[in-house]
Amino acid sequence: MGIIKSIGILTSGGDAPGMNAAIRAVTRSAIYNGLKVFGIYRGYKGLVTDEIVEFKSQNVSNIIQMGGTILKTARCKEFTTPEGRAQAFENMKKHGIDALVVIGGDGSLTGARIFAQEYDIPCIGLPGTIDNDLYGTDTTIGYDTALNTILDAVDKIRDTATSHERLFFVEVMGRDAGFLALNGAIAAGAEAAIIPEFSTEVDQLEAFIKQGFRKSKSSSIVLVAESELTGGAMHYAERVKNEYPQYDVRVTILGHLQRGGRPTAHDRIIASRMGVASIQALLEGQRNVMIGIENNKIVYVPFTKAIKNDKPIDKELVSVLHELSI
Ligand code: F6P
Repeated sequence: MGIIKSIGILTSGGDAPGMNAAIRAVTRSAIYNGLKVFGIYRGYKGLVTDEIVEFKSQNVSNIIQMGGTILKTARCKEFTTPEGRAQAFENMKKHGIDALVVIGGDGSLTGARIFAQEYDIPCIGLPGTIDNDLYGTDTTIGYDTALNTILDAVDKIRDTATSHERLFFVEVMGRDAGFLALNGAIAAGAEAAIIPEFSTEVDQLEAFIKQGFRKSKSSSIVLVAESELTGGAMHYAERVKNEYPQYDVRVTILGHLQRGGRPTAHDRIIASRMGVASIQALLEGQRNVMIGIENNKIVYVPFTKAIKNDKPIDKELVSVLHELSI
């Protein structure tokens, strides 16, 4: 592959607030550095079906504040087949696209890694997911906004939980990762978080009940990470009904509202920094790396590392939640 003259940009997998800020940053930084930019619609699907449009600076005006993704997103089956990827490559050649910037979660970066290897295309990934489950970056685009959304919701639930003296299980997203649940619980002042990372180690419900949660409190809120490993909030509510019938229990599943809304300042800033870094990385000759932020510095994380390694839960956060929930 020679000098990069033109890039394609797409968003893939679950949308995340801040993706638009990232699209804007990649587009503007590419143009600033003399590259042509193509917006690819509906993720890898648009690469296969040729929904590709040249982007000028104005195409990304007035989007930094918007949730969702102006490029739309999809989980694309065709791209998982060699035939689909061959078609995608043909369309890239047709438009003269030399490199790709992919904004998405681990599934999206896995697609980029396979495509990059098969066709020798420089691909740069930006971690766009509310789950914060990508290894090698302290935070992902959308995570902070989702945390704040959870916070707003739990603050409201607390009003009714306190008034009725109830135990609430609030289910949050995370696709088998406990970052939203754990940090959401700390920020909201919840009593506990039930997370998949610990589901094989201890009975987290029993541990919480043993803590004597009602001794000094008239209500309790427990955040539960959605996951087959935890069984979700309904599972714990059922257990409480059966095993501890003295408690008045309710469930709220926050669902997809966690993915929407205006991105926070933090998400807009990291999306902007990562977008600029993606073009810098391509110009430096980097390929097949995810842009991450560690200790507030931009880092390049090889796709294989970012995807394959599980990002560990920080035990200090677990202690903070535990100590403060007395
Ligand atoms: O990966 C982001 C995420 O929102 C997860 O937290 C959740 O498990 C999943 O996507 C939901 O996906 P869908 O929108 O396809 O139902």
